[in-house]
Parts: sequence; C-alpha cells; structure tokens
Amino acid sequence: MTYLLALDQGTSSSRSIVFDEQGHIVALAQRELPQIYPQPGWVEHDPMEIWRTQLATAREALEKANIQASAVRAVGITNQRETTVLWNRQTGQPVHHAIVWQDRRAEPACAQLREQGHAGTIQAKTGLLIDAYFSGTKLQWLLDHVPGAREQAERGELAFGTVDSWLMWQLTHGAVHVTDVSNASRTMLFNVHTNQWDDELLALLRIPKALMPQVQPSSSHFCDVAPDLLGHAIRVGGVAGDQQSALFGQACFSAGMAKNTYGTGCFMLMHTGGSFQTSRNGLLTTSAAQAGAQTEFAMEGSVFVGGAVVQWLRDGLRAISTSGEVESLAQSVPDSGGVMMVPAFTGLGAPYWKPDARGTITGLTRGSTLGHIARAALESIAYQSASLLQAMSRDAVAAGGAPVSELRVDGGACVNDLLMQFQADLLGIPVVRPAVIETTALGAAYLAGLSSGVYGSTAELSQLWRAERRFLPTLGKARAHELMERWERAVRQTTAE
Ligand code: G3P
Repeated sequence: MTYLLALDQGTSSSRSIVFDEQGHIVALAQRELPQIYPQPGWVEHDPMEIWRTQLATAREALEKANIQASAVRAVGITNQRETTVLWNRQTGQPVHHAIVWQDRRAEPACAQLREQGHAGTIQAKTGLLIDAYFSGTKLQWLLDHVPGAREQAERGELAFGTVDSWLMWQLTHGAVHVTDVSNASRTMLFNVHTNQWDDELLALLRIPKALMPQVQPSSSHFCDVAPDLLGHAIRVGGVAGDQQSALFGQACFSAGMAKNTYGTGCFMLMHTGGSFQTSRNGLLTTSAAQAGAQTEFAMEGSVFVGGAVVQWLRDGLRAISTSGEVESLAQSVPDSGGVMMVPAFTGLGAPYWKPDARGTITGLTRGSTLGHIARAALESIAYQSASLLQAMSRDAVAAGGAPVSELRVDGGACVNDLLMQFQADLLGIPVVRPAVIETTALGAAYLAGLSSGVYGSTAELSQLWRAERRFLPTLGKARAHELMERWERAVRQTTAE
C-alpha cells in the first residue's frame, strides 16, 4: 500500500493526515496552536510553536496509522496563507513572532500605498487589492520595527517565508528556502503572470530581494525531509496555500468550477483556467495550485463571519451551549419568520467592502423566538456565500464564460444539512458535499502524489473525487430572488445612512 502524508498548518491548529492512495483517511492528529494578541487588531503566532506542533502531529499521525515512514511516498504541505515569518539564516531563529493574516497593523502602510495611487499596478501584477491581509506590508513592518532587521536583511542574513517556507526550512534543517506559486501569490510581491518576485513591488515596499524564497510549481519536488525527523527522507512533493489546496482537493481543475469552505469565515474560490481575470465585483485574483508547467488562476472572495456567527450565539448570546446545538434550535421553527441577521461584526468583505458596517438583526416581531434568530444566524452564512457566488458568476459571464453551475463544499460547517439545503435553495444550483470533507489536506496529498508518480494526471484525481450528498434546490427562482432582495435590504441597514 502507498501512503501520502499531508501537513495542514492552519490558523487555530496544526494537523497531519495520512491518506491511502485512494484518498481515504487512514489517521489524523491535531494540536491546538496558541494565539497571541499583543494589542487590539494584532494577531501573532510563535513560529517555533508552529513547527513543534506540526512535527508532533506528523509523528503522531504516522504512529496512529501504524506504518513506517518509508511507506509514505510523499509529503504534501498546506498552510494558513499570508502569515509572515522572518528568521535568521544562520541560527534558524525567528527574529519576531509570525504576523498572522488577520493582523491589521500594516493598515497605515496600505493607506499610504493607496493614496500614492499604486492600487492599479498592484492589482494588475498580483491580482490583489491593497490590504494589510497580505504578507508584503507585514514584512515591511517587521523590517521597520525589529531593531537591526533591515540591515541584516540587506546583508542577506535573514529569510522571509510564509508558513510553508518556514516548515520546509525546519524539515530540512535549513537546507532549503522555497515556496510555491499559490503561497507566493498572497504576498503582494509576486507577479502572477511571470511567476517571479516583482522587482518594482519589492522596491516600492523596500524589501531586499535576498529575503525571498525560491518559487516552484505547487506539484513538484521541493525537498526531502531530514531523515532524523520522521525516520525516513520522505520527499515533499506538493505545497499549496490552504484555500487553493482545498480547490485542488475538490478536483476543481477547470474554469467555472467552484468550492466554498465553511469555517470560522468562508472562503470561496472559482477556477478560471489559464486566464487571469480582473473582477468587477471586488473579488481577488489569485494563483491556483499549479500542477503542470502552465500558470493557473482562480477568483476568490471571503466571508469574514461564517461559522463564527454560531460561536457568537454560543458565547455572546448564550443561546446554545455547544455549536452542534444550532441545527436543532434552528429546526425548531419552519423558517426564520422574516428575521434576517447580517453578522457584519468586523465589517463586510466582497462583494460589499463595507469596513465600517456593523451587525444587524431585522424583521423582529412579538412572535420572534431564539429559534428564529438561530435560523437567521445560520442562514446568514448562506446569504453571504450566495452573494459572493453571484458576484463570481457575474464576473465569469462578463469574461465570456458560463455562470457557476454547481458548488462543492467543505469545512466544518458543511456537515450541517439545513445550511447546505438552504444554500442550494438560495443559489438555485446543486450544492455538493464530497465523501472526504478534509479537502484542504487531501489537496496537498494529491499535489504530492502527482509529482511522485502515485497519480498520473488530474483526470485520474477527478475520478477519485466522490460526492457524498447532492443538495438540490427546492425553492422557486422567484422566491429565492425575493429572499436575496430582502437580504440586500438588510445589508443596506448595516451602515448609518
Ligand atoms: O487566507 C487565510 C487562510 O488561508 C486561513 O485559513 O483555515 O487557517 O483559517 P485557515
């Protein structure tokens, strides 16, 4: 039997999964990752803790699978994206905590770039909108604020990496400094047309090129794990940022195929094949995981508060004591009774881009119950995702393609049948849940398996992908339209006129 090991380093935990070559889960290990909040709006991780937890789960997963490391053909790495690590090449020590993707400290630098009129150039080269979310201005902040960092960087003594690079540095005891195109495309420093670090952007952000890792296609031989770590020199054959990895794990390989990951937030990506498309609806363009020689692209939009709305029902409203209870509470009523919730706790992202918006509940009557509010909370995840998908479809049609015809789903909250059915009802297209919902890790395993001869082609991977359940729309088009209109009205009420 051939096995693949996926290392899935996420924001809240490090996980490792052993898959067999059919893509079935053989063993899984997980460790929480402590979050560090030095001040409001700042979020950090300890890079050594990222490494320690990741290595521990890899060992544990192999142990649970009861296999020798030599039976693992390849390792695939997938990771929280944009999170920025800066370390000393000589000592291997980080010069600062990692600045996490959610961290907003670089906003003033971004405002300056916008004021200076760089938005057009940056979007054209990187596909991104200027935002503190991406690595570039986080790295700039580190170079400007860590004593001596800039001088050391200029002398070539430091290395920058997203979490994948950092893990590979550790996995090889400092022998390689590499990343893949999908992670590179989240830095705001990478030209996604040429697949190269962009000299003009590096100069604009005052980032010495000596800091940057070498960039490879996502399915390629990155390095071999040092034999003392896992007991065998397993090759690392696949690397991708977690959202692009999930797109790959969902076998969305061609233009128009889309997936939505329902986690704390939701991340929706639509493959656009080899064509770079600029959104007219506030979506990002990003490199998809690259399996062959050719550059591939995706459009991306995210919902800031997805599953987090259920946490709010639990911790804020104390309406439920465990997240799992939300489904039965929501099912205690036949519908939301006209109640509409917009959980704009931290503003609204694409396609609205209202940073100052705040949450609202509309349509309350004397008859409204906690059940209606729970239902509205759950439905808000589907409404936000629907408005993203509609924006994507509009972009696809404007670019001469077809609207999205089916949505593949994954992530923790996709097990909620009520939510998935409502999603299909709103969208008017099938919502398809795969047999393996760990698609992020699966994508990394597939990328690794593809470059190491376990799989011959993406066509073979498409054959392996299996639906567990298809949720078909049951609402009439007119009713779905009416509901979306009501949602849009509620969204308009999230900001003071
Ligand atoms: O862009 C951020 C994303 O990659 C984080 O994903 O699953 O670690 O929260 P996750």
